[in-house]
This record gives sequence, C-alpha cells and structure tokens, in this order.
Amino acid sequence: MGVVPAGTATTAVPASTGRPYVLLSCATSIDGYIDDATEQRLLLSNTEDMDRIDAVRAGCDAILVGAGTIRADDPRLVVRSARLRAARQAAGLSPSPVKVTMTARGLLDPAARFFTVGDAEKIVYCAGPAVDKTTELLAGAATVVDAGDPLDPARALADLAGRGVERLMVEGGATVHAQFLTAGLADELHLVVAPFFVGDRRAPRFVGDGAFPWHPGRRARVAEVRQIGDVVLVRYALSERCADG
Ligand SMILES: NC(=O)c1ccc[n+]([C@@H]2O[C@H](COP(=O)([O-])OP(=O)(O)OC[C@H]3O[C@@H](n4cnc5c(N)ncnc54)[C@H](OP(=O)(O)O)[C@@H]3O)[C@@H](O)[C@H]2O)c1
Repeated sequence: MGVVPAGTATTAVPASTGRPYVLLSCATSIDGYIDDATEQRLLLSNTEDMDRIDAVRAGCDAILVGAGTIRADDPRLVVRSARLRAARQAAGLSPSPVKVTMTARGLLDPAARFFTVGDAEKIVYCAGPAVDKTTELLAGAATVVDAGDPLDPARALADLAGRGVERLMVEGGATVHAQFLTAGLADELHLVVAPFFVGDRRAPRFVGDGAFPWHPGRRARVAEVRQIGDVVLVRYALSERCADG
C-alpha cells in the first residue's frame, strides 16, 4: 500500500494513464436494489459480512463513495476493528484508509461523518466550476481537487495514484458504480446478495442503464462465491489484474 500526504490544497489534475487497483463493493436485495425508498438506510449485509467488509477496507489505501451516498447515508467509512486499525498503524499507515468523494455541485455538509470521523486524509474531487465554493465550504475539513469539467473519474484515479494510492475500494452509490463500470475502471466487484426483496421501483438499483463492458457476448469471470451467514458474496474478476481465491 502507498502513503498519501496530508494537507489542504486545490490542485488541477493532470491527465494520466496510471490508476490504482479498483475494487467495487456493493450489497443488493434479491431483486437488485441497494436501498429502499425511505429516508432510513436499509441494512442489507449481516454482522459477519460487515466484518469482512471491514477487513477489505483495512487492506485498501483509500475508500471512495459518491456525494449522493454521503448525503443519503452519512457513512463513517472507517475501519471499525481495533485489531485491524492497530495492524495498519504497525505497518506505518493511518488507522483507516484515506476517504475520497466526487461531486459536481459541491453540495456537501462539512458536518457529515465522512469529514468529521477519523484522522485519515479526506479528498474531494470536484468539477471545476464548483471548486472555489467547495474549497471555501470545506476549509480545513478536506483537500478539494479540481478534477476538470466535466469531472472525469479516470483523472481522479490518476491523481490518487500520484498521491500513493495503490488500492482503492469504491463503496457506491449507484451513480458512481455505474461510472466506474461503464468506463472500464474496475478490476474487481464484490457483490453481496441479501435474502429478501425490496420490490419498490422508487428505490435505487445497483446500477441504472448504461453500456457495460460485460454483456451477453462478454461475460465476466467469477473469481469466488462464498456464503456468509444468510448472504452470498460473489467476487467478479473484471480485469486481468484480479486474482482468483
Ligand atoms: N447497498 C450498497 O452497497 C450501497 C452502497 C452505497 C450507497 N448505497 C445507496 O446508494 C444511494 C446513493 O446513490 P446515488 O447514485 O444517489 O449517489 P452516489 O453514486 O453515491 O453519488 C452520486 C453523486 O456523486 C457525484 N458524482 C458522481 N460522479 C460524478 C462525476 N463524474 N462528476 C461529478 N460528480 C459526480 C454527484 O454529486 P453532486 O450531486 O454533489 O454533484 C452525484 O450526484 C443511496 O440510497 C445509498 O443508500 C448503497
């Protein structure tokens, strides 16, 4: 794993081909929903699976969610296990990975737990027109990076690579996952299926419409299937970089 320097700065991102290893993580209902239509966050994983997710987080340099997930779920995005935090620190890393988000409009609350919980660096990739406003809004809470107009996830990944991020976990939501998948910017997908239906088309699904690189004529490779209590994890290999097992 790499190391990301701390500090609050606004930087223009150069175009580059280098990017971290990108692992997408998502939990769905049997009918493919990632949430319900209520204000409350829908619990899809179980305790054992959340421990697995914690370990995956601990093995990454950075965790990314979209601004929509910060607004909807107010996630903390830190490693919960004291043992895993201690192991990271023993390896010279911050207790939890760097937190990363993307926004076009800059509608982020500096009081959100993304910004207030944990000592790790927080990086906000922002579309050019909203950079000044967002930098002012998040002063002292995050590093705001001008990622162009429109914001290009590939450029954000190149910038993360430049900051020493070698392994990135993308935890949603639907918009962000769809962008990384359709742009061919994912190496691995961890898809957890919870044993119930949501059955409400007002709720968000894993991804919406799009031209995905994996379709009936090009099937993704299953790297692993694992039952974890009452949920099932399927690990899809989406690039040659993804190993089996
Ligand atoms: N089940 C799961 O595993 C899981 C995990 C995470 C989230 N979720 C659910 O997912 C839902 C949220 O999904 P979502 O699609 O609304 O939100 P999202 O994907 O988390 O974030 C979308 C937002 O990110 C910003 N963004 C994304 N790509 C961008 C780009 N290329 N350029 C500029 N800005 C970009 C925009 O923010 P601005 O609007 O600020 O411009 C956009 O509105 C919630 O219901 C949440 O509970 C489920």
